[in-house]
Amino acid sequence: MQAPSSPTLFSQVQISLGERSYPILIGDSVLGEPSSYSDLPRAAQALIVTNTTVKPLYADALQSALRHHFRQIHVLTLPDGEAYKNWEQLNLIFDALLQNTSDRKTVLFALGGGVIGDMTGFAAACYMRGVPFVQVPTTLLAQVDSSVGGKTAINHPMGKNMIGAFYQPLRVVCDLATLKTLPGREMAAGLAEVIKYGPIYDMEFFDWIEAHVDALLEHDAAALAHAVQRSCQIKAEVVGQDERESGLRAILNFGHTFGHAIEAGLGYGQWLHGEAVGCGMVMAATLSQRLGLVDGAFVARLRQLLKRAGLPVVGPVLSQSDNAARYMELMRVDKKAEAGEIRFVVLQKPGKAVVQPAPDAMVAEVIDACCQP
Ligand code: NAD
Ligand code: GLY
Repeated sequence: MQAPSSPTLFSQVQISLGERSYPILIGDSVLGEPSSYSDLPRAAQALIVTNTTVKPLYADALQSALRHHFRQIHVLTLPDGEAYKNWEQLNLIFDALLQNTSDRKTVLFALGGGVIGDMTGFAAACYMRGVPFVQVPTTLLAQVDSSVGGKTAINHPMGKNMIGAFYQPLRVVCDLATLKTLPGREMAAGLAEVIKYGPIYDMEFFDWIEAHVDALLEHDAAALAHAVQRSCQIKAEVVGQDERESGLRAILNFGHTFGHAIEAGLGYGQWLHGEAVGCGMVMAATLSQRLGLVDGAFVARLRQLLKRAGLPVVGPVLSQSDNAARYMELMRVDKKAEAGEIRFVVLQKPGKAVVQPAPDAMVAEVIDACCQP
C-alpha cells in the first residue's frame, strides 16, 4: 500500500451533457479522500471492481473513503490484462452483483486502468438496465482518455471493443499519486493518448508536450497535472458536442483504426493499447501525407515525439504472406466502417482531423512503408 499524503485537488473539468453532466476531479491523493465522493447519491451498497495488480495498491484506500457513504462495500478482483476484457469476466461482475443482492441504486466503482473502466462501465450499463458508476482511473491512459466520455465495452476475438454501450459515469476521480506505481511502459502507452490530442485538436498543446515529454516520463507533478487537465478539457469539448460519435467524436480515434488491427492481429495484450495507437498514429499521419494533406516534416515530427515517449513507431508484421491484406481484413471490422468501406481519421492539417475513406492501394502502400524497420 502507498504511504498516504495530504489530499490536494488541483482542478475540476466538467463534462457538459445535460442531465448526464459530471465532474472530473484531478488531484493528488484524492482517491482515498471521503470528500471526493461525499455528494454521490445515497445507496446501501457499493461494488469496487478492480484487478489483481491494483487491488493491493489502492483498494483499501478507496474502501475506507467510501465507508462514510455506503453501509456495505464489496470488492471484486478480476484477473489483470487486455486478454481478460471479455464476456467471461463481465459475467463475474454480474455474478457478484446478484450474489450480493445488489439493487438498482448500488454504485459500481471502476478502480484500475482502461480495461477495468470499460468493463465495469459496461456492466453498470447492463445490470438492471443501468446502475450508477464512478470511474477511479489509475493509469495515465485511463485518466486522459478512457474514463472520460462514457464509452464502455468488451472485446470480441474478431474485433476490439465491438460489444459495448455509451454510458456516462457519475464522476471521474483522477488521482495523480497513483501514477507513481505505474510501470514505465504503461506511462509511455498513456502518453500516446496525450500526444494524440495535439495533431487532432490543439497544436499549442503538441508544442507543450514536445517541451515537457521528459518531465512527464519522470513523473513531474506539475507537468502531469497539466497534461491530464488539458487532455480532459479537450475530450470534454469534443464529447460535449458529440456524445454518441455521430461525427466530430470520431477524431478521438486518430491512429485507432490501424492500432486496433495491430491489437487484434497480434492477439490482445501483446502490444499495449497505447503502443498500438501510437504506431497507428504514425500510419494515419503517413496516410494523411499520401493524401496530400500534411507534409513529411510533420509526420517526422510526430514520429520523433512518439519515439521520445518510448513508443514503437514501426508497425508489426501481422502476416508473412500478405501483411497489408491482413491489416485491411482486420480494419474492415471497425466501428467507423460503412458498408465494408474503411474510414480513416486523417489530418486535414496539424491540429485538425477529419474522417474519410482512402483508396485501398494507397492504404496498402502506407502499411508496407510503416511496417519496414
Ligand atoms: P490496463 O487497464 O490494462 O492497465 C494497464 C496495466 O497497468 C495493467 O496491468 C494494470 O493492472 C496496471 N495498473 C493500473 N493502474 C496501476 C497503477 N496505478 N500502478 C501499477 N499498475 C497499474 O490498460 P490501460 O492502458 O489503462 O487501458 C487500455 C484499455 O482502455 C484498452 O482496453 C482500450 O481499449 C481502452 N480504452 C478505452 C477508451 C474509452 O473511451 N472507453 C479510450 C481509450 C482506451
Ligand atoms: N477514445 C475515443 C473516444 O472516447 O471517443
